[in-house]
Amino acid sequence: MTFSRFISISIFLLVIHFSLFIMGSNHAAADITTLSIIPQPVEMIIGSGSFVIQPDTQIVASDDAAAEAVKLIDALAPATGFRLKHLGAATRDGNLISLSIDSELQDNLGDEGYSLDIKVNRIELKAYKPAGLFYGIQTLRQLLPPDIYRHAPVQGVAWTLPCASIIDYPRFEWRGLLIDPARHFIPKQDMMRYIDAMALHKFNRLQIHFTDGQGWRIEIKRYPLLTEIGSRWHNSMSQKSDLGRIYGGFYTQDDIRELVRYGAEHYVTLVPEIEMPFHAGAAIVAYPKLGFDPEILAALPIEQRREKAGNLVVPRPYTIEFMKNVLDEVIEMFPSPHIHIGGDEAQADRWATVPEMQKQMKELGLADVHELHSWFIKQVDAHITSRGRKLVGWDEILQGGLAEGATVMSWRSMAGGLEAAQVGHDVVMTPTSHTYFDYPQSKTEPVSIGANPVPLDKVYTFEPVPVELNTGLIKHILGGQAQLWGEYIPCEQHREYLTYPRACALIETVWSPKESLNYEQFITRLASHLKRLDAAGIHYRTLDHDAK
Ligand code: ACM
Repeated sequence: MTFSRFISISIFLLVIHFSLFIMGSNHAAADITTLSIIPQPVEMIIGSGSFVIQPDTQIVASDDAAAEAVKLIDALAPATGFRLKHLGAATRDGNLISLSIDSELQDNLGDEGYSLDIKVNRIELKAYKPAGLFYGIQTLRQLLPPDIYRHAPVQGVAWTLPCASIIDYPRFEWRGLLIDPARHFIPKQDMMRYIDAMALHKFNRLQIHFTDGQGWRIEIKRYPLLTEIGSRWHNSMSQKSDLGRIYGGFYTQDDIRELVRYGAEHYVTLVPEIEMPFHAGAAIVAYPKLGFDPEILAALPIEQRREKAGNLVVPRPYTIEFMKNVLDEVIEMFPSPHIHIGGDEAQADRWATVPEMQKQMKELGLADVHELHSWFIKQVDAHITSRGRKLVGWDEILQGGLAEGATVMSWRSMAGGLEAAQVGHDVVMTPTSHTYFDYPQSKTEPVSIGANPVPLDKVYTFEPVPVELNTGLIKHILGGQAQLWGEYIPCEQHREYLTYPRACALIETVWSPKESLNYEQFITRLASHLKRLDAAGIHYRTLDHDAK
């Protein structure tokens, strides 16, 4: 935060606090545990008394806040059983909820912040941008009884919110989760359900790992065999856990557009990941010219191709052209500023054995396969940049020299991210140690891919900014993200079990002020928060799981 932003926020808070004082509220020190908001807001003062939402409560919103006002009405309707009226201006004083966009609030709240002021007869929600109103609505819902998350009317509940004054904005702009339909296809409805739960927690990026050796899950019109052939397989790695069920399936371009729209309505940007040059087996089987020994591969029946194809493409001109064409369609479908190209785990040594690649390296003046790997990523980076987007890749893209505009996801440790930020690249921290939610939550868990548990308390200690990073470069740390690789996640219920409550811990590390993090207090709030997840029907690992 800049000094001027700090000063203006301080003045803003003073004004808000003083107005609470003169309206005669009990000026108690904020007791954030009683309200159990997750992620914990930046600043909160609890007043006395409460606001009651009733069937005739008016929702008042100017035109620029109208879309969010409708979302508030939609969010309240299922459990309360009433649809509140939405008006441009109040028809009477009292018992109204006002939503407004205020262009003066940029310095105080940024693009995603909000202020929420709850008095006995009026709730004021303000933000600089609609995203802030959306997050204010999420907080407002958490202040109501947990039953508000139920999907059908609940009788006999008073829909009250405590009087309070809240100022809130995120610490980081990238608050992500990754899911993996390449390994087990995820039906569209499950994706939407996952986005709903993300929005409830103020996550704003969903990275989708669409392609791998086990399957290609996104329609590319120019290369129809990618899905005709590449989307129909078993996930061989999880046979132990799911007994060889077939997980075929892919998203049509219309499905993708629907999902992108759904994400946008929830302020969740969908970030596509199209893997290259490794984890590309499904593409090679469909289009053998991408791989080693293309003529031999092409002559084999599909199932034998699968055995022989491997996962690594050969960076010949055909492959580069192919990937650029694929990315053009992907970019057309996804408005995300960031396009993820994988880049991880390529054992590129085999390229050195291909005469065609030896010649290519010589012509390009490349010393070894690491430089060839880097050259390949740079070709893709230049293409993505030429389309006005930014390439993101796993930290192996540092090897042999980083492409100019690339953003790095640091997964093997925080070191790659530190190295990239030190030379001015943007970074999202995604270390296995704290953010691999496909790893088990303790030593006694269902079969999973990871050996080392990533328990809840460890997630809460996640700090995306390495201590070694100079203050001036901290801006390059965009935030953090948890990964739910899908090899051992055959269904939505298990994905949710692995996600929650660890995602509740993670979101505090990327939203709430660092100084305010306190694990004991978090656990107290979490116990109440889990009642919300119960009401919403979201699965999670119970806090007493190990004791059972
Ligand atoms: C990764 O887990 N291979 C990024």
